[in-house]
Amino acid sequence: MRLLVTGAAGFIGSHFVDAVFENEVAERLAVLDALTYSGNLSTLERFRSNDRFRFYHARVEDPAAVANVVRDEHITHIVNFAAETHNDRSILDSSAFLTTNAIGIDNLLTVARRESIAKVVHVSTDEVYGSIGSGRFTEKSPLEPNTPYSASKAAGDLQCRAHFVTWGTPVVVTRGGNTYGPYQFPEKLIPFFATRLIDAKKVPLYGEGSQVREWIHVRDHAEGILQVLLEGCPGEAYNIGDDNERTNRDIVRILLEETGRDASLVKQIPDPRGGAHDARYSMETLRIRKLGWSPKRVFEQGLRDTVRWYVQNEAWWRPITESEEYKEYVANYYGRTLGSDL
Ligand code: TYD
Repeated sequence: MRLLVTGAAGFIGSHFVDAVFENEVAERLAVLDALTYSGNLSTLERFRSNDRFRFYHARVEDPAAVANVVRDEHITHIVNFAAETHNDRSILDSSAFLTTNAIGIDNLLTVARRESIAKVVHVSTDEVYGSIGSGRFTEKSPLEPNTPYSASKAAGDLQCRAHFVTWGTPVVVTRGGNTYGPYQFPEKLIPFFATRLIDAKKVPLYGEGSQVREWIHVRDHAEGILQVLLEGCPGEAYNIGDDNERTNRDIVRILLEETGRDASLVKQIPDPRGGAHDARYSMETLRIRKLGWSPKRVFEQGLRDTVRWYVQNEAWWRPITESEEYKEYVANYYGRTLGSDL
């Protein structure tokens, strides 16, 4: 196959490219990425010498740019990772979210239809379902998103459904759990806290830290998406999870242990997400397991290895945490609650 991967300069997308090359799935792999604040060319450095790899700097919602890459590279399959992904940023300013997360996939699907693409995989999230008190979300659960971020992802999922029903565009949706591993932008819980703890800075725990997330290693997540690309049924969605539910407190305990810091660095702050803070995510994953995929990494070891990766790869994240954009975001979002601990 000749594959277009959008958003691969980001976290999960870059690990997906690793999985594609290691499994020798594609004779050509073209990446299209807008290089927004969270996309990093140095994340793609490891593919530069591969002669099957190409990079295009463009936005996913740009019809001409996407169509040109698809034609020039004779693309047969598309996987869409391009997204604005952070809940907290969407609470600060929601304006970019619909553009990338809904209009972007609509544009890709239109190009896919016109250029007779064999399959599109749209990478989404369990957050489209909203929060669940007990039990698990299945792919048939209603979409009840609670933040501007998760609502924009749900809009993208619905756009996939509409393109499939209206034109028969062969699109499959994946909904992954909270993902952790190397190369994650240091704004999400694990890399944000790990990089701050390495620097002996205080970490802002929202409220009691009793929220529950289902965590999956990025490589398991990427392999799940690859399995859906190869075997997934158009018109369907597939949950990708690891049955691994943890409270935020539990995560923080391991992060403290692995960085050798003590609990005095944890500052409980009034929850900035307020009523939009989902209490629990949990997914049924039978459907993707029937395709032959199962997660392979053990959480606690994977998390400790991830922290060690951040300890050993300051050269990757330090330019980010020292950038003006990043400092401004952290000051805007946490300034009031962290104060002099910023
Ligand atoms: P996050 O990594 O942002 O992922 P998501 O919002 O997609 O679940 O947050 C994971 C959990 O960690 C969530 O319950 C919010 C909490 N959290 C904090 O307590 N402090 C923080 O600074 C961040 C970024 C998250």
